[in-house]
Amino acid sequence: MFQQKTYIERRKVLKEKVGKGFILFFGNDESSMNYADNTYHFRQDSTFLYYFGIQHPGLAAVIDIENNREILFGDDYTIDDIVWMGAQPTITERAELCGVENVQASVKLGAALNLAKQMGQPIHFLPLYRPENKIKLQELVVIAPKEVANKFSVELVKAVVSQREFKTAEEIIELNKAVDVSVDMHVAGMKFAKPGMTEAQVTAEIHKIAIAAGGNISFPIIATKNGQTLHNYYHGNTIKEGDLFLIDAGFENPMCYAGDLSSTIPVSKKFTSEQREIYRLTLDAHQAAIDALQLGKPFKNAHIAAGTAIFEGMKSLGFTKGNADDAFEAGAHSLFFPCGTGHMMGLDVHDMEDLGEVWVGYDGRPKSKQFGLKSLRLAKPLQPGHVFTIEPGIYFIPELIDLWRSQNKFNDFINWEKVNSYRNFGGIRNEEDFVMTESGVELLGKPKPKTIDEVEALRS
Ligand code: GLY
Ligand code: MN
Repeated sequence: MFQQKTYIERRKVLKEKVGKGFILFFGNDESSMNYADNTYHFRQDSTFLYYFGIQHPGLAAVIDIENNREILFGDDYTIDDIVWMGAQPTITERAELCGVENVQASVKLGAALNLAKQMGQPIHFLPLYRPENKIKLQELVVIAPKEVANKFSVELVKAVVSQREFKTAEEIIELNKAVDVSVDMHVAGMKFAKPGMTEAQVTAEIHKIAIAAGGNISFPIIATKNGQTLHNYYHGNTIKEGDLFLIDAGFENPMCYAGDLSSTIPVSKKFTSEQREIYRLTLDAHQAAIDALQLGKPFKNAHIAAGTAIFEGMKSLGFTKGNADDAFEAGAHSLFFPCGTGHMMGLDVHDMEDLGEVWVGYDGRPKSKQFGLKSLRLAKPLQPGHVFTIEPGIYFIPELIDLWRSQNKFNDFINWEKVNSYRNFGGIRNEEDFVMTESGVELLGKPKPKTIDEVEALRS
């Protein structure tokens, strides 16, 4: 945990921003796999962590703004629990660490919220993603199940985003640590992969680094010869000479800050000439995106720069034709790059995605509905303290090629014969993490091997 004063200050700012009413926070519960006591890895809710720092299941908290009263709700373990789990801090001891003075049993939460209702005070709560918390909310605040998703407090969402989006110096230290270990995970995987191995064997090598560093992974590891499938969590294939191999993996450090990196390697010692040409284009697009990052200017500029660079680069190889700006406007580049250039990162790998991308990445403005652009999670102007990824890639997705070709889509921009001849090429992506500062953008963590020479040096 950070020092107590960090959490006290964060809650003080939140109270000022929200101004009125009761704020209700749910922590996460244990989540069972196949019977009650056999649980998935416990992960605290990130907003709960941000304001209270406690990595422990079964908690909730209420902030009564008018009376400046903060209450943590939870139940101490019984001796039966302690026999199985060992001695545990009490809820009061945990509350003390984050500066909350009042502790009550979970069963009292309903009474605290009834008080708010009696006082005619609004109860602010966030959008909920865990079913058990949705059920608790239905019971406690008496909201019809289908209304839970619509009745969250936009005011609270905006207030939380306006704090969590700006990473402080102590958070940047944690993020640097998380990215450093993420780099170690990638280097381990990039060196380890050999023809004849399964994707699962490489995945295990990457995961091992995260566990040994005392944390875990910030999202399920992508380690695949089918990098054209954007979130490919299948690890059952055997890799062979000539394959490309894409790794997208990140560390979640003990404070729950995330890293998120991607790398692409040849399974052979060297890239083929075709792989090398496309790889070079992804590096150009990556650099074009970084060059477009400017303090006070929209992140969308980086996406435009990456998308047009990809289209332009693909033109130089004969895959595309026509004007790159027109092609981007029409969305033709998204045949090869059907996703976004990056997203915010922090306590979540896609930071605050549970609160809504429109609030986190667009300042409340609507997102585009265009294929490709609709997957851009961050578009708004960059401010000091914003932490985000840069991850353009080039993907040959056979199903998308076939569909758009059959529809005669983008015939003015795409050379379909040439594209079709690469239909089994796969996908290439590099991904790095950055922080915007007063003096410009800075790479987080140590540099990850990325150039063709750096990657091939790891494969020899
Ligand atoms: N690293 C996974 C993603 O950004 O979606
Ligand atoms: Mn990412």
